[in-house]
Parts: sequence; structure tokens; C-alpha cells
Amino acid sequence: MSLGAAIDPARVARLRAEAHRVLAGNWRAGALADGTQYGFTCPSPPRYRHQWYWDSCFHAIVWRHFQPARAREELRTLIRGGRLDGFIPHTIFWHDRAGWRRAPFYATHSVRGSRATAHIQTPLLALAWESVAAASPEDPGFRTEALDALRLHYEWLDGHRDPDRDGLISIIHPDESGLDDSPKYDAVFGWMSHYLPGYVWLVERSRRLRYDSRAIIARYEEHVEDVLVNVFYALALYALARLTGDEQYARRAARTEQALLAHCWDEESGLFWDLAGRSHAPQRVSTWSSLAPLALPSLPDEIAGRLIEEHLLNPRRYRAPYAIPSVALDEPSFRAGWHLFRCWRGPAWMNTVWLLAPALRRFGYDAAADRILGSCVELVERHGFREYYNPLTGEGLAARRFGWSTLIVDLLPAAQFPPRAPDSAPFEGSMRDELMAMGAEAASEARRRLRGRRRRSRDRPRTGSTPRV
Ligand code: GLC
Repeated sequence: MSLGAAIDPARVARLRAEAHRVLAGNWRAGALADGTQYGFTCPSPPRYRHQWYWDSCFHAIVWRHFQPARAREELRTLIRGGRLDGFIPHTIFWHDRAGWRRAPFYATHSVRGSRATAHIQTPLLALAWESVAAASPEDPGFRTEALDALRLHYEWLDGHRDPDRDGLISIIHPDESGLDDSPKYDAVFGWMSHYLPGYVWLVERSRRLRYDSRAIIARYEEHVEDVLVNVFYALALYALARLTGDEQYARRAARTEQALLAHCWDEESGLFWDLAGRSHAPQRVSTWSSLAPLALPSLPDEIAGRLIEEHLLNPRRYRAPYAIPSVALDEPSFRAGWHLFRCWRGPAWMNTVWLLAPALRRFGYDAAADRILGSCVELVERHGFREYYNPLTGEGLAARRFGWSTLIVDLLPAAQFPPRAPDSAPFEGSMRDELMAMGAEAASEARRRLRGRRRRSRDRPRTGSTPRV
């Protein structure tokens, strides 16, 4: 269900056209020297030029509204970047090798020359595949063409990432969830956290064990059964069950759901916690990941009610003027706009709203979902598709023309008007473009504030002054 009548169709049409333009500008296609073809959307050039696993899934989910052929190509390319044993990397460097400054920080087998990272990202591929297949009546074979590869992928995850066989898969680096520097990992990774220089050692140590995750999990304590990763894992397994008709995946998904309830749910706080290390120590830091189980199909109403009433809609916790903050407002680590190196420590991201707003509707909170979505429309109208936003002021932060922020399109009604044709030239993101975008944004913010001030002074009751005659 979507925002419905509450939003002017002309605004939706403009937003969709702009989203299409962003995806089209970030589209990269070509072939490697050996003839391997690729086509994917880079998250935001020049900062993010490669193919990222979960970004690609989100991009494909939006592409299917505009050009389903591109959605299919994006997902096929992701599978093509994987290995024959079912492993699919977190990042794939198709046309552009990792830059020298960033290369040491990528979880690759060697600092130079790797084509992709050797670690994973939140595995929602089967979920994205299913939704793209549903939007592909002109290519009915798409639904089944990659079932072997998808099965292998989820077998790899099961075989390599769940050594204690409790139904929850583990991550061995904080960025494997996609939530890189979330404060929920601070106590686990300590001086090797994603935003600290020690992260280089975490990478190096995994390299020395050849990224054999079973060996890494057996030798070290720094690994996490992550709630968000496992929610998406369960959703993807359900999607795989529907795609293949094979009931064993539905049973595995249900097992992961049950494990989240049995091991991660904390009755006292009313939240789900990640579990760290061999002892499964709960990490009691409230981030949006603690609310992610709202998206699970069989979450008991009582638990959903607590997540929503005590947390998601509580003004002291997650109810912010704009979108949904990545960390609870009352967490000591919450930083609304601190974004130079740390991005998941408070700012609001669009994929959070994409996961949680439909869940709010499912539990009957339509008005709250509409409010959140309405605030996201305003964010995009004011600042464009930014990487994330300050949930208190609405300021747009970090990368511009950020691919997955277009996910808002998936939550809005389809526009009545055909979208404007997107610019087809790839957007490279030069310094000049950046400065022009910053100038235009500052001017429109200044206009907005001025209009607000005028409106306020017009509406202010004139008390205490006697009208002159
Ligand atoms: C940042 C995000 C990560 C994303 C990547 C590419 O590192 O934390 O989730 O996949 O950028 O957009």
C-alpha cells in the first residue's frame, strides 16, 4: 500500500522522473577484456563507482518501475560477479579498480589487482530477484533462469556463516551488514572498528586466513549474528521458496525467524539485539536494526506493538521530524549530522523507511507511515537524492544522486503522467557539478527559510499594539 491520495500526483511524477534520471546517470555498462558483460548502477559517482551487493538489489527494485530490462541486467551482473561456489562479493570492481587511497581498506584478497572483495553484504538478492521477475512479463524466463545460482548462494551462506547451526548467519566484518560504522559494533570491533585505523588490521587478519569465514569465526571473537542481516536473510529465503517451489527454504526461513525471536528478542527493553562472539553476548545499542524484525511475516502482534509504540513512534527514540534515524535519539552515541567518516550513527537513510514503513501499515499504523513518507518526499524535494539526511533538521548529507535513496519511488503511488525522459549521459560527478549542486541547494534552502519566516510573521497574532488611526 502507498501514500495514496495524500500526495499531489504532480509531485510524485516529478520525484519519479528525477529518480529515473539519477539511476540513468549512474548506470555503467561495458565488457571486460575476456568478454564478460556488465551493467549496473554505481551508487554515486565519483565517491562510489563500483557495484555494491545490497545497493544493486535496491537499485533493481526501483529500476523495475522504469526499465525492467535494466533491473534484470543489474541482478544478472551481480550474479556474474560471484564465484562458482555460490559466494557473491560485497563490492565488485568492474570497470574501475579500487583507487590507491581506498584499496588497503577494501576486504580483498590482495591490496592490488583484486576484481572484487572477499566478504559479503546483507544477502537480499532472492528478494530483489522475485520482485524484478514480477515486473518482467516480457521476459518470463527471468524468474527461473538463475535458480541454480541463487540456491548455491544461499547454500554458501548456510554452510560458511552458520557454524553453530542456530539458524542465524554471522558477519565477520562490520561493513558486511552495510551498516559499516554503526555504534552497535563499537564494543565488538573496538580499535578495529570500521572508522578507525585499526580496521586495516581486521582486513589484513582475514586476508591471512584467506577469508575462510569458518576459520575466522573459529579463531576470533569479533563476529556478529546481526539482526538486520538475518531479517533480510529470512525474507530472501522465503522469496527463494516461492521462486523454486521448494519448501525446504521456507522451513529454513522460519527457523531463522524463530532464532531471532528466541535469541535476539529482549523482553525487558522491547528490542532485538545482535549477538557477538562465541558467547553470543547481546549488544545493547538501539539502532534501526533492532526494529528490522517488524518486516518478518510471522512476528507476533504483541512484539510488533512494543517495537512500534515504545520505540519507532516514541519521540524520545525514533520519532524524528524527518524519516527514521539510524540510531535511537536517546542513545549516547546518536549524532544527527556528524557525517564525515561516520554515517550510520544517527542520520536517516531511505532503505530504513523502505523496510519499516510497509511494516507499519501491515500492523495498522497508516497515519504514521504516511507522516514518515511525507517527510521523505520533502527531504528529496529540498535536497535531492542524498546518501542520507539529518533526521532533526532535514539537511541532506554526504553523496549526491545516491542510487538507493530512489527507493522512495517503490513506496509511492505510480504517477499518472509518463516520466520525463532521463538524461542518458553517464554522470561522472566532477567538482564543477558538485559546486553547482551545492549552490542551487543553498539558494533553494534560503528561499524556503525566507518563505517560512514571512509566513510566520504574517500569521503571528498582533497583540499588545494599538492600531494607529
Ligand atoms: C556505504 C554504506 C554501505 C553501502 C556503500 C555503497 O559504505 O555504508 O551500506 O553499500 O556505501 O553505497
